Amino acid sequence: MKFFLDTANVAEIKSAAELGVIAGVTTNPSLVAKEGGDFLEMLQEIVQIVDGPISAEVISLDAKGMVEEGEKLAKLHKNIVIKVPMTLEGLKAVHAFHKQGIKTNVTLIFSANQALLAARAGATFVSPFLGRLDDISVEGIGLIRDIAEIFAIHSIDTEIIAASIRHPMHVHQAALAGAHIGTLPLKVLESLVKHPLTDQGIERFLADWNQAKK
Ligand code: E4P
Repeated sequence: MKFFLDTANVAEIKSAAELGVIAGVTTNPSLVAKEGGDFLEMLQEIVQIVDGPISAEVISLDAKGMVEEGEKLAKLHKNIVIKVPMTLEGLKAVHAFHKQGIKTNVTLIFSANQALLAARAGATFVSPFLGRLDDISVEGIGLIRDIAEIFAIHSIDTEIIAASIRHPMHVHQAALAGAHIGTLPLKVLESLVKHPLTDQGIERFLADWNQAKK
């Protein structure tokens, strides 16, 4: 499983990029609104930091509007992926983008059928939302497992982005369930490094080293 960063914060993206583990970035309207500023300028900055798929979401609800917005965004850089919500209009837009060779990420996926439809419309990525399912007492990881199985059975090459990841267990489980990518907030990414035995080990090594030096 590859790692994407789920943020529109340029400082966070720079910080994660230095770790060498980030293969792409996902944004959404809430994340962009949180940062303020001009969306297009923000994207232009992000594509300079991470050389991989950068998802930028459309806000129109009709296919025509989505396509107009998406075409404008896609012109910014070859790595821009148009993020489209999972609706009938969204599927029409994904189909239109596919015909033009523009990559898409179908977002707000909460069922295997939605993922299958998005893939058949030509989506490059689908984003099932783990955390938001867990929030309503539905096991999100089961959805990732089902989508991965269906895509494997039918040789579908649309990639699964495990989204709405809230904690390290989601990451571990999503990787085992067959997600190709996990998109993580920086806080979750950094928490993956932590293990108490690692910290204790470093302390012990340093203590032994300093003792021997005396
Ligand atoms: C995915 O692409 C979304 O940006 C994101 O993962 C949503 O996460 P949330 O449910 O924590 O808002």
